[in-house]
Amino acid sequence: MKKTVLDFNEMKRKGEKITYLTCYDHPTACLCQKAGFDMLLVGDSAGMVVHGYKGTLPMTMEQMIAHAEMVRRGAADTFIIGDMPFLSYQLSVENAIYNAGRFYKEAEVDAIKLEGGRRVIKQIEGIVEAGMSVMGHIGLTPQSSGQLGGFKAQGRTAETALELITDAIAIEKAGAFALLLEAIPPEVGKIITDTLKIPVIGIGAGMHTDGQILIVGDMLGLFEAFTPKFVKKYANLSEIIEQAFVDYIAEVRTGKFPEEKHCYRMIDGEPEKLRALLEPGPPQ
Ligand code: KIV
Repeated sequence: MKKTVLDFNEMKRKGEKITYLTCYDHPTACLCQKAGFDMLLVGDSAGMVVHGYKGTLPMTMEQMIAHAEMVRRGAADTFIIGDMPFLSYQLSVENAIYNAGRFYKEAEVDAIKLEGGRRVIKQIEGIVEAGMSVMGHIGLTPQSSGQLGGFKAQGRTAETALELITDAIAIEKAGAFALLLEAIPPEVGKIITDTLKIPVIGIGAGMHTDGQILIVGDMLGLFEAFTPKFVKKYANLSEIIEQAFVDYIAEVRTGKFPEEKHCYRMIDGEPEKLRALLEPGPPQ
């Protein structure tokens, strides 16, 4: 049965870890649901992992909704979060509510996620007031990685850690149902997790958060452009896929594929009839 925001609160209360993964397409969503993830994020990391952009900024609402629709069709009973792409919520509160609503109406998501701390509080309040669930995202926020000086860990000094803690409290007060922490020290992750009542999920935020998320292409060893320090690879799919491609090319070239078992034979007696039909010569 699909989990709800109430289940996630209960999991935090009981100390049960929340399992969360990014997902962008239908076949992967089917596998994620079978494996039993608590939540899936249709992340704008699709920009890098699927579309081959250098970062997340080029992603549009249309692209994100298309991915979210595919994931929803594959994981009908899983809690799915749509990631608001750059410029879909920064312009105004109305614009943020409208785009969050598009995710709900067009892709049937269960919540949306947006990046930023105190500077997006009005947007979080507006989306929550409109009846939707919001996950905050602070620490390394890829959409503003330019301002942060690149894809760098955040909150490593007392002052910057205090800024993050202040942001986290403001996000909870604004009505978010959960918070994502990216690339921050475990000590800071622990303070935020212990301070907030809402579930706190980490990616590169240490072992104390209420749950963990990884990017699917990273943990499967499918995305080779770069691997952040916080990634654990649970498989090396790129090697397996590349070998399968090489084997297929070789077998087609040498005639080893297809074999008899891959062929559709004509019905008994039909080859003889066809030969008779062709006796005067092939049709002109
Ligand atoms: O877009 C994304 O995949 C994210 C991850 C950092 C979890 O926000």
